[in-house]
Amino acid sequence: MKNVLVTGGAGFIGSNFVRYLLEVDPQVQIVNLDALTYAGSLENLKDLPHLERYTFVQGDICNGDLVRDLLRQYQIDTIVHFAAESHVDRSILSPEPFIQANVIGTFTLLEAARQYWLVEKALPIEQVRFHHVSTDEVYGTLGPDDPAFSETTPYAPNSPYAASKASSDHLARSYNHTYQLPVTISNCSNNYGPRQFPEKLIPLIILNALTGKPLPVYGDGQQIRDWLFVTDHCEAIHLILTQGTSGETYNIGGNNQPANLTIVETVCDLLDEMQPLTAPHRNLIKFVTDRPGHDRRYAMNISKIERELGWRPRYALTDGLFATVQWILANPDWVAAIQKQREYQSWLTKNYETREKSS
Ligand code: NAD
Ligand code: TYD
Repeated sequence: MKNVLVTGGAGFIGSNFVRYLLEVDPQVQIVNLDALTYAGSLENLKDLPHLERYTFVQGDICNGDLVRDLLRQYQIDTIVHFAAESHVDRSILSPEPFIQANVIGTFTLLEAARQYWLVEKALPIEQVRFHHVSTDEVYGTLGPDDPAFSETTPYAPNSPYAASKASSDHLARSYNHTYQLPVTISNCSNNYGPRQFPEKLIPLIILNALTGKPLPVYGDGQQIRDWLFVTDHCEAIHLILTQGTSGETYNIGGNNQPANLTIVETVCDLLDEMQPLTAPHRNLIKFVTDRPGHDRRYAMNISKIERELGWRPRYALTDGLFATVQWILANPDWVAAIQKQREYQSWLTKNYETREKSS
């Protein structure tokens, strides 16, 4: 791995991964291709280490000419593909951009890689890799007693977001099977940590709580996610890139599976200690109309990546949440930049005004 194209590296996980890779691997040159949608920001890339090994390109992964030019210009041997529309609620209100970015975008990248690596044979085949970053949501939802998702669980995506990611996974798999493009796929559970856009549960709750706003909990708040601190995810992807087997899929998860309401209460209790209001933050919790088609429970069986690559999550949930709150408190400029985005404010109105319901 020498010349790495990261897509979506101005978003939450991508920007953490760029930072992580520059720090752990002194050999890599990174080209970060990101369209800077509402979810991507150069604020996420401030103070990167080793800037001499880093290039930013603003552009769309659906632009085949641009992607082909970048592969050739930088002799890209590794693609780590994060770029996507990533928020389930937005996919319910407006699915089209998800098909464009997640399906067409992934297809465009795979085609460009096939052309450059397999047709032009630009680089030795054993030195190239396409890593596709995906989600546990492709597996659908679990009942209370169902076993956790494994790599062989059949796909059953329930939201337009999950369906678009499932489609992109299938395309990535097919390029390996049909053309022998060296592809790996990871399906990961919910991430949290520094630089997560505050449309997702944890940063939304932290920012609302800090300003005394209601904390919206969908439905009964008993839905379950498997939470993973973002640098643990970055470490897992790096291991797959360096030691994983082409053609394989790896499940990644946090072994942290509390109900949403417990997550919100834990954040409230942390803030009572770190940034007290006159009343407990829990008083701000408000149950609101549920998400349509809301998946009830996710859980990941991570025994394959533990066994084959020796990876396991490092962060306990309380430590990760503490680090996340601390990062937000220490970065008011990052918070202010997002809060003054008109698009963000109109999203909050669009998503929450219609589901308001008294608790
Ligand atoms: P994010 O929404 O924070 O960032 C996505 C980034 O992709 C943004 O910087 C955006 O500008 C960029 N982007 C979107 N469309 C683009 C396009 N057409 N061309 C170029 N750039 C484009 O997302 P995230 O939470 O960092 O997720 C990254 C990846 O990880 C996604 O593929 C997502 O499906 C996957 N994933 C996320 C989670 C999670 O909990 N956040 C969990 C598992 C998997
Ligand atoms: P989210 O962070 O949007 O991730 P995902 O839908 O990909 O799992 O949501 C996490 C959980 O929190 C999910 O069950 C929906 C719930 N949720 C709320 O209860 N309130 C909110 O305001 C949001 C954004 C999510």
